[in-house]
Amino acid sequence: MSPPNDLLPPLVDKRCRAGTLDNGVRRRFAPAARELDLLDIREGQSVADLGTGVGFLLPELLRRVGPSGHIIALDPDERNLARARARVNGDARVKFVLGSASEGHGFPPGSQDRVLLSLVLCCLVDKQGTMAQVWDLLRPGGLVLASYPRIGAPWRRKSRSLRVSPERWGELRSQRPWEELPAPRGRIVTRHLLRKPSKT
Ligand SMILES: C[S@@+](CC[C@H](N)C(=O)[O-])C[C@H]1O[C@@H](n2cnc3c(N)ncnc32)[C@H](O)[C@@H]1O
Repeated sequence: MSPPNDLLPPLVDKRCRAGTLDNGVRRRFAPAARELDLLDIREGQSVADLGTGVGFLLPELLRRVGPSGHIIALDPDERNLARARARVNGDARVKFVLGSASEGHGFPPGSQDRVLLSLVLCCLVDKQGTMAQVWDLLRPGGLVLASYPRIGAPWRRKSRSLRVSPERWGELRSQRPWEELPAPRGRIVTRHLLRKPSKT
């Protein structure tokens, strides 16, 4: 008899079908602006959207960072990345990176003002490695918004082994001296807003 799904060690990161990442329901009930409001993004800032998918958040991110801002849009799925690029017409302010959030990609430590992990931790095998990269990428005082589906949401019953339980989140958070700021919990999504302390 095979072991239950949530006892199996996850072997690979989860890829998501493009259609599930951008649809009318999401645009209506979870618009990009609502997520990004939490991050207090200012003009001229640098923002890394790790696991950008089809770039659902990119147009609104570009509007907020303005003409002098910069965005890193990273994803290991070439097809998603191509759609993200097309969505913003290859805007020169966006650097598209094919790769994993759990690895370094040569960006200078402390180079990002904000980092997004929108619905991404739940897809990753190496969650610890990813949070360590986020810490390195962020400047002191920088913010990261991490969101993932709440356990128990009906559409999360599959691939349980990658899910983010409260205990797992607690472990991830405690790897570094993050400051946790208030973030509203959605009906089906959990959000965490963390600040890298100004003095570390
Ligand atoms: C549910 S989607 C979220 C996409 C986007 N952040 C959004 O909010 O629409 C998860 C994304 O994580 C990507 N992903 C999977 N493994 C990853 C990894 N190791 N590093 C970065 N992204 C990864 C998937 O390809 C997918 O595009």
